[in-house]
Parts: sequence; C-alpha cells; structure tokens
Amino acid sequence: MAFTKVELLSDRHRLEGFTCGKPSLDAWLVKFSRNNQQHGFTRVFVICDGDVVVGYYGLAPTVIAPNQTTRKIRTGMPPDPIPCLLIGQLAVDLNYGGRGIGTALVKDAFQRCVAGANLVGGRAVVVRAVDEEAERYWQSWDFTPAKDNPSVLVRSLSDIRGWLELSVRSQ
Ligand SMILES: CC(C)(COP(=O)(O)OP(=O)(O)OC[C@H]1O[C@@H](n2cnc3c(N)ncnc32)[C@H](O)[C@@H]1OP(=O)(O)O)[C@@H](O)C(=O)NCCC(=O)NCCS
Repeated sequence: MAFTKVELLSDRHRLEGFTCGKPSLDAWLVKFSRNNQQHGFTRVFVICDGDVVVGYYGLAPTVIAPNQTTRKIRTGMPPDPIPCLLIGQLAVDLNYGGRGIGTALVKDAFQRCVAGANLVGGRAVVVRAVDEEAERYWQSWDFTPAKDNPSVLVRSLSDIRGWLELSVRSQ
C-alpha cells in the first residue's frame, strides 16, 4: 500500500476515525488540529492513505528554562528561557502501526526543526509525552527528560543535525 509523503494538514484530509490507542491524541487531531493550525498555534503534518490521515505530528515554537535542560543544552551563556522547537503531538493509527510511519514522521519533524532553527535560531527540540510508554518512545530517540517533568523531553539540535547527516550518508 502506498502512503502519501508527509504534507501539511489541509481541508481535503479526513480525520474522523483516527485511533492511535491514546484518546487524547485522537481527540486533539479530530477536534483541535485544524483550529490550532488556522490560528497559528501549531503546524500539523500528516501522512495519508488516500485522503485519510494515518499518522500526524504537530510542530510549534516553544521555550524551556535553562534549569530544566541538560548541561549540554544550557552550555555557554544561554538566554532564559531558551528558544526551542516543539513536537507537541505524534501518533500513528493502530491499523497502520509498525510499518515505519512513526519513524518517517519523526525524521520529517527533525528536518523541519533544523530548517526552522537555521532561519530563526533554536537550541533544542522539545517533545511532550502523553504517558510513560510515550516517554520511553522518546528516550529511544535519545531525548532526555526535563529535570522536574519527565513528560517533557529534550534533545539538542546539534545532536539532531548530526543524526540527520549520518542517516543521509548511510542511505
Ligand atoms: C509510537 C508510535 C508513534 C510509533 O509509530 P509506528 O508507525 O508504529 O512506528 P514505526 O513503525 O516507525 O517504528 C516502530 C519502532 O518503534 C518502536 N516503539 C514503538 N513504541 C515504542 C515505545 N513506547 N518505546 C520504545 N520503542 C517503541 C518499536 O519497537 C519499533 O522499533 P523497531 O523499528 O526497532 O522494530 C505509535 O505507536 C503511536 O502512535 N503510539 C501512540 C501515541 C504515542 O505514544 N505517541 C508517542 C509520542 S506522544
């Protein structure tokens, strides 16, 4: 089965029935994603089977306090708060799990975060995990939990740039 490339959410995309197993992420896509994007809070990127969304993530600017991050990220004389990029949501429909869609979405999000940071700055990518399973998922992508809040995890953009360069070279 052929999926679309990752694309910006638009009116032609169908969201109803999306089920990733985490109700808050399903509800966010169906009820809030269009409105959030329209108002400029978040950009929403999707992978589809035809017009039906089977995976998505949300991207936005964010900040993090220096004392919440690792030494590597707050090195130098960081501003307080530190400008970052946020992957606020990431989910794949259960019927399409285990086929590499999640990985493709994360990689696409990393590429857009690097492109965004190249334009306006940004020290790290921040993610929000919905539960402990999601925390483990982000840790498998080398994200480190924030000091006072394990559901917020951080990875430096320099790390991510390096990872993307390696993955291009190994293709
Ligand atoms: C996590 C999620 C996005 C993965 O999507 P997917 O399309 O099934 O992922 P892929 O097929 O690209 O990759 C699967 C890999 O991720 C790993 N993985 C999945 N969930 C994991 C978890 N909680 N912790 C660690 N690794 C995990 C799998 O073991 C697999 O590894 P492998 O490639 O070495 O076999 C999807 O399961 C999902 O939407 N879960 C519910 C929402 C959620 O938890 N989102 C996470 C961030 S909030």
